[in-house]
Amino acid sequence: MRVDRLDETLIFESQDKELFLSCFQEPRKLPEYIEKEILKLVFDSLKLDINGNDDVTLLIKRLPTPFINKVIFDVESMFSDEMSLYSDGVHESAALYLGRHLSYLMYYLPVNVFKVWKPLVDLQVKDKLKWKMRILDIGTGPGSVAVGIMEYYRMMAEAFPYLNFVLSFVLLDGQREFLTIAKRLINSLTAYMPPNLFVSIEESICRTLDSPEDISVSGEFDLITMSNFLTINEMRNSQNAVAIVSALKDSLKKDGSVIIIENGIKNNCLSFKTIRNDLVNQGVYNVYSPCNGIWQPKKEYSCTCFNMVRCFWEIPLIYKFLRDHGLKKGGRYDVPFNYAILRKDGKTKYRAEGNNRFYVQLKDLREYIDRTVNVKAIIRTVIDRGDKISVSLCDGSMDLGIDDDSSAVWIEPVDKEWLVKKGLNLPIVAAEKITLKKVKVIAHGTFVVIPRLRMQGSTEIEIEY
Ligand SMILES: C[S@@+](CC[C@H](N)C(=O)[O-])C[C@H]1O[C@@H](n2cnc3c(N)ncnc32)[C@H](O)[C@@H]1O
Repeated sequence: MRVDRLDETLIFESQDKELFLSCFQEPRKLPEYIEKEILKLVFDSLKLDINGNDDVTLLIKRLPTPFINKVIFDVESMFSDEMSLYSDGVHESAALYLGRHLSYLMYYLPVNVFKVWKPLVDLQVKDKLKWKMRILDIGTGPGSVAVGIMEYYRMMAEAFPYLNFVLSFVLLDGQREFLTIAKRLINSLTAYMPPNLFVSIEESICRTLDSPEDISVSGEFDLITMSNFLTINEMRNSQNAVAIVSALKDSLKKDGSVIIIENGIKNNCLSFKTIRNDLVNQGVYNVYSPCNGIWQPKKEYSCTCFNMVRCFWEIPLIYKFLRDHGLKKGGRYDVPFNYAILRKDGKTKYRAEGNNRFYVQLKDLREYIDRTVNVKAIIRTVIDRGDKISVSLCDGSMDLGIDDDSSAVWIEPVDKEWLVKKGLNLPIVAAEKITLKKVKVIAHGTFVVIPRLRMQGSTEIEIEY
């Protein structure tokens, strides 16, 4: 990898991309030092003594049982519907977290750390990440996104020790308790970073964003991130979203990106895509990824389909302990979420293909029942059924609504082992471009014929990351 001295971006050379992507063959593992620093922070906040030599398992066992029970109760109830009903607007989000900041830190920070890796990879594979990044993180909470970006850059700094990397964060949150936690955690984690990665918190801003006027930050950013900030749980935010995210455009460098990450819940996906559609249709941003048109550049978005991306991880030790003590959530090794990368320079991860002569668009598949065709599309969603996976596709030629999943184009369930034999070694997580040559179109459905695709022995598959 090298740095382009003109625009400061990181450029892959020869085998770098393969080497880099091979890191994703295994599920992500939250390093033990992050779990330990989380627990040290909890001990400190509870004013309990700590033995610095204790490992995570010993530390967590020393937490008082009433506290563990409270964490479990908080996690099970924090975002339940009743909790969301009892006050109005932004004050509600304050109420949701009141007295629960440590519970959020222990449970929600770990699960949110690796989500940002997917958008970072999307930018990196097209040489859009820089060695030096100024990042504004809105709705920081305990620092989940910042920790995720630090971990990503740590991986890079270790893989490319001859390069230097600099991350500088501006954190913004309406709650001082969260900012205090985030600052302490980020600062403590800098001790574990390699010497060629320099991380700093430039500023932390305690402010509630209610309207575009509330965004007064100095200078421009390479990256503006928001994770679980526009969620419908955060009531007024989803209503103010278009105005707020539009106003952030002035704080974004001309080659910068806005990364929005949301949870994988259906209603939230609808709200999130509606916000994305408005932002694009009003000409504020373009979608860099995912959801690029395969055959034509997508200038207008009306799709509100329900889909999700996943990241795979090993269940952290803190989760295992909480689950052993009664927590019902937190057993998933695949974490579903949604994301969008928005830019103002018109750049997209995948450029529209010029030549579709040998390919069939998804909207036309019905005319090819029982025939063998070639197809190019973005992977919309992947359903993991153990040994088999089902994959749904989108090429921008069909706009789907939230409940249209069954009318989407699906590849019939296929053995994972078979895919490996076909040379696909990385987990398929959605949002990548897939080319299928020689797939059979099958009629599915009794009253309305919905085309499905069937892989055959002769099918060729290529995934572009
Ligand atoms: C669900 S948490 C997300 C935290 C973190 N980004 C993550 O993904 O784990 C939402 C955070 O946004 C903050 N927040 C919500 N609405 C806000 C607003 N209008 N202005 C400032 N902060 C807000 C909350 O205080 C909380 O820390």
